[in-house]
Amino acid sequence: VLPRDIFAPRQNSAGVAFGERKALASFLAERDAAGPLDVTARCFWSGAKADAPQVIRSAVDGTAIGSVHALGAEAASALVGEAARHVRTAEAVPAATRAGWLRKAADLMEAREGLLMNLLAREAGKTVDDGIAEIREAVDFLRFYAAEAERLFAAPTFLPGPTGEENVLQYRSRGVAVCISPWNFPLAIFTGQVAAALAAGNVVIAKPAEQTPLIAAIAVGLLHEAGFPATSLYLAPGDGKAGAALVAHKATAAVAFTGSTETAFAINRALAARDAPIAPLIAETGGINAMIVDATALPEQVADDVVMSAFRSTGQRCSALRLLFVQEEVADAMVEMIAGAAAELTVGDPRDIATDMGPVIDAAQHTMLSEHLDRMGREQRIRFAGTLPEGLPAAGQWFAPHIVELDRAEALPGEVFGPILHVVRWKAGGLEAVCDAIERTGFGLTLGIHSRIDDVARLVRERLTVGNVYINRNMIGAIVGSQPFGGSGLSGTGPKAGGPNYVARFTREQVVSVNT
Ligand code: SER
Repeated sequence: VLPRDIFAPRQNSAGVAFGERKALASFLAERDAAGPLDVTARCFWSGAKADAPQVIRSAVDGTAIGSVHALGAEAASALVGEAARHVRTAEAVPAATRAGWLRKAADLMEAREGLLMNLLAREAGKTVDDGIAEIREAVDFLRFYAAEAERLFAAPTFLPGPTGEENVLQYRSRGVAVCISPWNFPLAIFTGQVAAALAAGNVVIAKPAEQTPLIAAIAVGLLHEAGFPATSLYLAPGDGKAGAALVAHKATAAVAFTGSTETAFAINRALAARDAPIAPLIAETGGINAMIVDATALPEQVADDVVMSAFRSTGQRCSALRLLFVQEEVADAMVEMIAGAAAELTVGDPRDIATDMGPVIDAAQHTMLSEHLDRMGREQRIRFAGTLPEGLPAAGQWFAPHIVELDRAEALPGEVFGPILHVVRWKAGGLEAVCDAIERTGFGLTLGIHSRIDDVARLVRERLTVGNVYINRNMIGAIVGSQPFGGSGLSGTGPKAGGPNYVARFTREQVVSVNT
């Protein structure tokens, strides 16, 4: 049982103060600054031999927005050696100081919302809604893990023992922690992993996704400005080969990874193959996330929640709804209503406040989605195909929302990371079979249930081993400290981000028993 006051002093970030004229004006000025931002993503360790700089282009219109000096495998490996030299210094910083720096970084991040929003839109295609939510989440992670550092490290835990003996449990840092983050939450997930690893007193090497190194560079800059020395936090831009070298190094003592299940398996194998102490892996991967809707559900609420869950962030959330199971009796009416709501969505420049869906991240994702849709068109039934407005910048990878009806859940070949919703019908009495189908996917990240029968929700949530269950609401946008996030099975290892067990995974426990 957690003490009640763990979460009490913390408040979630309020986001941009749109009601304050001055704050709004400065937010918009920074957000709308055009042209190169001159952001450079590089490893600041002078020993790192980076490749020649490459230009990073906007996901919206292809304009240059900054540059990256990527590390190759050799440089990444050398960086772990360098980081390992500073482990003791990092651990010696009191937890209260680390917590203070994390809170300072949160304040700095809130003060730079306009710049962050600019990059979130241009580097990652995030809409205003998504961008603000993402900045708030990053800030929440910083403050939440600051409180966690204090809770775990500030005072030792005395344990019972025989008279004349004192037993004390204390948390220590692990050493070098490698954080490998995805492009779909280039600020929030990047900051969350790094903040937790820093909260635990580690030296952190942060490798952002290849597509989004600039936002990561800003986040690292703010953490340094807040107080973390350059020798406690290194940015390591690079591709998969750099990531593999970071993981393979003997001095790497913990790895946090968010991305594909396939890569999580590869990291797990690489860690196991090392001639080095066993290092924990915190993996948060994907999901074929399902929502079950029965005939008692409120149709308008379902339509709203489905559209939000499947198409917000252009479907590029690991929590997003992929497979909607609708009871036969209401299926046609429900699909029609959802299609009607999806038709209202505007695809366009994410900086425009009226835009609901920005571009998908890159050409490779666009090709994957197009090929999947072609296949679905041949083998299944496309129920709704959204349209793109005229005049979108040619360099953006635009993709309209789609709804595909499947004749069976197994017709979906895997996780399709984008704005394509798949619908399957189920018949009264078939709830167990629906659960079987969800279970067979092997994933267990998010699950939605829409029903006004309590027993339906209870049966489903008790039956399925899913990390986050959402009942009669949408199934995305987990809030730090309120909805700790993460799954099981093919969806990840746990512990949950933004929950009470996350920072502890970056530590090692030590028990000291003294004969008094
Ligand atoms: N945490 C995000 C959400 O809940 C997904 O990564 O939507």
